[in-house]
Amino acid sequence: MLRRTCLHLATVLACGLLVAGCGRKGEGRVIKLAHGLDQQHSVHKGMVFFAERLAAKSGGTLRAEVYPSGQLGSERECLELVQLGGLGMTKVSASVLEGFAPEFKVFGLPYLFRDDAHKAAVLDGPIGREILAAPQSKFLRGVCYYDAGSRSFYTKKPIRTPDDLRGLKIRVQESPMAFALIRAFGASATPIAFGELYTALQQGVVDGAENNPPTFHLSRHYEVCKFYSLDEHTIVPDVLVIGTHLWNSLTPQQQKWLQEAADESAVHQRNLWVASTTESLDAVAKAGVEIIRPDKAAFRAAVAELHAKAQQDPIVGPLDRRIAETTP
Ligand code: GCU
Repeated sequence: MLRRTCLHLATVLACGLLVAGCGRKGEGRVIKLAHGLDQQHSVHKGMVFFAERLAAKSGGTLRAEVYPSGQLGSERECLELVQLGGLGMTKVSASVLEGFAPEFKVFGLPYLFRDDAHKAAVLDGPIGREILAAPQSKFLRGVCYYDAGSRSFYTKKPIRTPDDLRGLKIRVQESPMAFALIRAFGASATPIAFGELYTALQQGVVDGAENNPPTFHLSRHYEVCKFYSLDEHTIVPDVLVIGTHLWNSLTPQQQKWLQEAADESAVHQRNLWVASTTESLDAVAKAGVEIIRPDKAAFRAAVAELHAKAQQDPIVGPLDRRIAETTP
């Protein structure tokens, strides 16, 4: 894996895209920030807002340049580049961070949050902050969460009950929790990087995948999968990440600007989320996708065992219990 990342880093350097994760351009210091989503996505807009706020606060002396659409690699590859210092920052799904800090696994538990207020209380409170700080020994520091709504199945044949998933091949992120969830539904889990998923769906490598409405829409996966079943099985946030080498090289004032800009961008993005979800559902329905609203209780019951199993995990179990006890 390290060899692959070194090769990837070498390619990125050879293309002259990155001189360093944080280079100097003109007067200011410039941080490269790469991610996999489309430029129409609210999470991308959140990062653009972050860059604007950072430039404004620092008077242009500290800036971020955003590279969208997976141009600098998959989420795992970007995290590895950030660890090595070839990239300053990235934005990934919390699921992919499971491989870097086990605390992130808790977000992979199904039906974790009771509602948006519960989710906000957890992410904005001590538990959320603790999880962001968890990957520091791996040279990564979570800066803020972006809203990624809830994930639901999209497939080539309708999923109306959990039984309809039996035997289907479903794409999962590079995440042991996502793998366990799909297995618990009786489907077979196939890990595929997000950037390779359109082709995999088209070629029938998998029968379906799962994601939130804006990502289902903006990835154009709806061109291949004509059924979207809103079972909303997981609520996995996105995470803005900075390398600790870069973070530690900033002055306390620069760290303050960066953290404030990130916090403001998280609020901005959260405000865009609900409208972007409705727009995306309308757009895919117009394009001929059948939106199914199944009985969620049946889906919840089908995978309830995962919470029981998590209790045996010394990190995930206590976090799951603390989250359940959190009140807004
Ligand atoms: C979400 C998330 C992305 C991630 C994607 C995936 O859309 O925002 O960061 O890449 O899920 O399923 O891979």
